[in-house]
Amino acid sequence: MGKRFYVTTPLYYVNDQPHIGHTYSTIIADILARYHRMQGHDTHFLTGTDEHGQKVQQAAEKAGISPEIHCDEYARRFRGFWDELGLSYDDFIRTTEKRHTNVVQKILQDLYEKGDIYKDKYEGLYSVSEERFITQKEYDEGSFREVKEIHEENYFFRMSAYQKDLMKHIESNPDFIQPENRKNEILGFLQQPLNDLCISRPKNRLSWGIELPFDKDYVTYVWFDALINYISAVGFKTNEPLFQTWWPAVHIIGKDILTTHCVYWPTMLMAVGAPLPKTIFAHGWWMSEGQKMSKSLGNFIDLNTIRDHVTRAGVDAFRYFLAKEGPLFGDSDFSKERFYQTYNTDLANDFGNLVSRILKLIDKYFNGRIPEQGEMTNTEISLENEGNALCERVFELSDRFELNRLVFEVLSYIRSINRYLEQKAPWKLAKTDLKETGTVLYSALASLRLAAGLFEPILPEKVALLFSVLNQDPDTEKNLSWNALKPGTPVHKTEGLFPRIDLAFLQEQAGDKVEKSVQKIEDKTPGPETGLITLDTFQKVQLKTARITAAENVKGTDKLMKLSVEAGTESRTLVAGIAGHYKSEELIGKTIVIVANLEPATIRGVRSEGMLLAARTGNTLRLVTVEGELSESGAVIK
Ligand code: MSP
Repeated sequence: MGKRFYVTTPLYYVNDQPHIGHTYSTIIADILARYHRMQGHDTHFLTGTDEHGQKVQQAAEKAGISPEIHCDEYARRFRGFWDELGLSYDDFIRTTEKRHTNVVQKILQDLYEKGDIYKDKYEGLYSVSEERFITQKEYDEGSFREVKEIHEENYFFRMSAYQKDLMKHIESNPDFIQPENRKNEILGFLQQPLNDLCISRPKNRLSWGIELPFDKDYVTYVWFDALINYISAVGFKTNEPLFQTWWPAVHIIGKDILTTHCVYWPTMLMAVGAPLPKTIFAHGWWMSEGQKMSKSLGNFIDLNTIRDHVTRAGVDAFRYFLAKEGPLFGDSDFSKERFYQTYNTDLANDFGNLVSRILKLIDKYFNGRIPEQGEMTNTEISLENEGNALCERVFELSDRFELNRLVFEVLSYIRSINRYLEQKAPWKLAKTDLKETGTVLYSALASLRLAAGLFEPILPEKVALLFSVLNQDPDTEKNLSWNALKPGTPVHKTEGLFPRIDLAFLQEQAGDKVEKSVQKIEDKTPGPETGLITLDTFQKVQLKTARITAAENVKGTDKLMKLSVEAGTESRTLVAGIAGHYKSEELIGKTIVIVANLEPATIRGVRSEGMLLAARTGNTLRLVTVEGELSESGAVIK
């Protein structure tokens, strides 16, 4: 039996748009999954959405829609964004799916029958924002926003019974909680006696949850439900062979959900008699430009900001920066300037230039064909040895979650190749010794191919492009040994692997910021009304093409229509006052222009996520459409 690797991300709450935090956990899991696939391990990568609980119920109420519709929409956004970024998850689980709710109910029933779940009175404090009961001590020491005193009967999980076994497990399995500081945090927490866990919510307080199979007046506490996804998705209690294939998993989480994963979850598993996870790895926090991300500061690196960076620098560059600078062990800061500088230094300069340099020389002196390896000197042999040692090292580092270090070491190797070229100067050597020039270029290219191969899980798109330029057959591509190149293979010149980015736009943006704050002050002083807006204001409006897939009149109005549109990978609903001007069948299939970043509004009970553009004179209204054949919707209008 070959090696197996099962990796999971947290299930994201469907009350927020994906942002850099969610994206980071998911990209880390994606990179690890790819390193394992590369080693030939059977790999399973699970992500998904956490859809029950008070926060979701409230978000849906606020939007004036049912929780089901709300969840569908947000799950689509998360999944759509992961697809847009090309993430290689194997399964996406939603906690509202039957395959999950069934397993949760089975577990609840079993634990109830076993006596591990019991009913009791609860009198005490409840934090509404954190959706959990808190102790007086926590209340006194913490800063909880909304706390209620609650007296009610609830069901409890006998978590305290497993405290000792959990401590023993943590102490005797050093890889179980990583990194070390998080493990110590949990061991510290477990020094205090562990309370039993309240795992129910009365339906009169919260109805959006999984019903307790033994008492229909209650639903399950959202964490007791969500954690189970890691085993429900791989067939626990429903498909034993599948479960045996994949479980136990490696969980990638953020430090905010350490206790739920390292205390609640393992004790739940002990109670159901399942093995504990292999590893729970809790990473730190991303800050934004030196500050905590917050809506009020407006510094959230949300999906639109990420899209912006990805459009400019490519998705691989974003993955690279996250891997290199990300908060694996502590916290990290995302600074735009640093992101683009890293891109230019590491990717455009060190990596991209090396590629174009070598290929240009091969083109010039060897007619675009890989030269013979020739006789190797100690310099080439040490380059080969360094490369081969790096292969083992890379997998060791990915097993230890040390992606920062991994990037650093592969990059250092790329820098060694650059130094080697400088030292051998094949552009001079070619004038006197073409054979040795061949050896130098073969060695440089062999080293580069290996380095690129080792970066493939981080830079999948660009490395695929490079391999196609190098005309590698799939077997050679997979071959992670230094001298896998076949002399005589034609290779193409390429310039564009990582084109340099002119950083002037950063200054312009910074200038705009200053201007904006001046503008704010000026805005307060009444001046002549010009009706003009600045370019900066206009650029904030995101216009996109979208294809209408369905259209119907909004009930109870004769002007409004509800349109379903697709803009690239995302679907949206719009409400527009066009009912008197178009019939629904005329609309379906039309490619229109929408304002994509308008704050959603609920109009006559229907949530509208954007606005379409139309022209009107008198009683005539026509939609703005795009000329010519646009094969794909979602194009950005400039
Ligand atoms: N639904 C729960 C998890 C249930 S798992 C069975 C939840 N969801 S969440 O949407 O709030 O996502 C939390 C996760 O997002 C964190 O654990 C972390 O992985 C990621 N991040 C959210 N903000 C973050 C940063 N600022 N920085 C890094 N990652 C953070 O909690």
